[in-house]
Amino acid sequence: MTQESPQRNLALDLVRVTEAAALASSRWLGKGDKENGDAAAVDAMRLSFNALDINGVVVIGEGEKDEAPMLFSGEHLGTGHGPDVDVAVDPVEGTRLLAFGRPNAIAVVALAPRGTMYNPGPAFYMKKMAVPFEAKYHVDIKAPVAENLRRVSKALGKSVDDMVVFVLDKPRHADLIRQIREAGARIQLHTDGDVAGALMSVTPGSEVDMMMGTGGTPEGILAAVAIRIMGGEMQCMLDPQSDSERQTLLDAGYSLERVLTVDDLVQSEDVFFAATGISGGTFLKGVTFTGKGAVTHSMVMRGKTGTFRRIEAHHSFAKLMRISAIEY
Ligand code: FBP
Repeated sequence: MTQESPQRNLALDLVRVTEAAALASSRWLGKGDKENGDAAAVDAMRLSFNALDINGVVVIGEGEKDEAPMLFSGEHLGTGHGPDVDVAVDPVEGTRLLAFGRPNAIAVVALAPRGTMYNPGPAFYMKKMAVPFEAKYHVDIKAPVAENLRRVSKALGKSVDDMVVFVLDKPRHADLIRQIREAGARIQLHTDGDVAGALMSVTPGSEVDMMMGTGGTPEGILAAVAIRIMGGEMQCMLDPQSDSERQTLLDAGYSLERVLTVDDLVQSEDVFFAATGISGGTFLKGVTFTGKGAVTHSMVMRGKTGTFRRIEAHHSFAKLMRISAIEY
């Protein structure tokens, strides 16, 4: 095996990007205004990104150029000096969570070598199942819900009744929720935020054992980067929620039967991930303003080494505001 001296860990640069987005957007906590909360995060994220020595192209962004003035898919990010990377961003994952002051709104960023991230194209929704490492080779998203619960429970060495499944509280999940309840498992229902749900599923010691249900395709790819590093599994299938989405996918040659694993969603191990809590919750604490500054909590990961860091940062506004172009 080739020995390498320590290399640059881009995730340690990326965390400054997610911290900036979290600090800026958390000013909008509970104010009922998801557009301005998101805009604050986008502006902060973009400014911080452009200080990074990367040659990045946004693969997962805020939308298409015409509807998203910044961080749109195809936009170039970084100084242009440094590695060629695909960039996935979600400045506020859970805009409604932020607007209504609910837990688990987070700022998220991931990087992978150019061309290795799955391009969601016109696919807005995916059916997803995320499980911890122990259950990685035991699940099959095409199998019945009760069967997957039984297999995960066996892999985890606990009964189905002891398990907790994270599910988004959406009308489309009525039948899924019924099947989970009938099988005897317990459920955490969240209005939004299935990136946090997927990450909780693979985090040892969290109160969630697995995640099931349909959510955004971009969110699935972001979660896949982290899960690839953390060692769990996520299986997904494109799951269009309207006739027009279905037809567009079929016309573009996408298969609705294909099972996408974490390795399909990001085809490299050389990936980086950072997330910072905005609104708080059991998963990542939110931003606390102290009067003199603010405290943020982040998770930072590098795929090649598998290093996972939790970073508590204390930001001093007296000093920061003398130099920061971002108004916190
Ligand atoms: P936003 O941050 O874009 O608001 O996404 C929040 C979210 O709940 C995601 O976590 C999830 O994947 C997706 O929306 C589900 O979409 P929908 O609310 O349309 O069912």
